[in-house]
Amino acid sequence: MKLTLRIWRQSSADQPGGYQSHQLENVSPDLSLREALDQLNEQLISCGERPVSFELDCREGICGSCSMNIDGTNTLACLKSIDEVKGEVKIFPLPHMPVVKDLVPDLSNAYRQLASIEPWLKSDKDAPEGEERRQSPEEREKLDGLWECVLCFSCSTACPSYWWNSDEYLGPAVLLQAYRWGADSRDDSTDERLYALDDSFALYRCHTIMNCAQTCPKGLNPGKAIAGIKSEIASR
Ligand code: FES
Repeated sequence: MKLTLRIWRQSSADQPGGYQSHQLENVSPDLSLREALDQLNEQLISCGERPVSFELDCREGICGSCSMNIDGTNTLACLKSIDEVKGEVKIFPLPHMPVVKDLVPDLSNAYRQLASIEPWLKSDKDAPEGEERRQSPEEREKLDGLWECVLCFSCSTACPSYWWNSDEYLGPAVLLQAYRWGADSRDDSTDERLYALDDSFALYRCHTIMNCAQTCPKGLNPGKAIAGIKSEIASR
């Protein structure tokens, strides 16, 4: 099949960008969009042209690197089938983020915000000698719908509240992580975590627009996690 890729091209952060159309012939419908971008880059390199910059690592929806806006929806290019896009597809970097180059967004602010919620297990007790920290099946089940997040930031960059307040609002991806660590039965810092989140901008800029749940390529619901944080705070 033939495919037209309309791709945002921007040679560096301080240069203006714009869409460029690239034609691909003989594309197998079994390819993912990420593989179609690889095929395009081989074509561009063989013609002496600059390849399209984009990030990827695992190629199977685990690392979260290849998130981009495909035909208006943020998702992972390696999970998007060419069969779903047909004909012409418009590809843009994650919206409302500074662009490093072409489809590579600058996520420095989002990573700083992630570090601020301390996304790791914090426990006052040492792990039992020679053993893992155990959870009951019920305690472990509470993390379902949370641990699967691959931190692709598709949700945060689809959220209007995050677009306009990303300097202070933590956004759905980071808040889902905050809830995930607070909900872990092995973590002893839930109160401290909730106290830090109880802020009119950091948390309460979520207005339950729910673009986050609609766009998440892993089918998660960050809005529900945010509601969980608000409810935990209200019940203390
Ligand atoms: Fe890892 Fe797509 S390359 S999620």
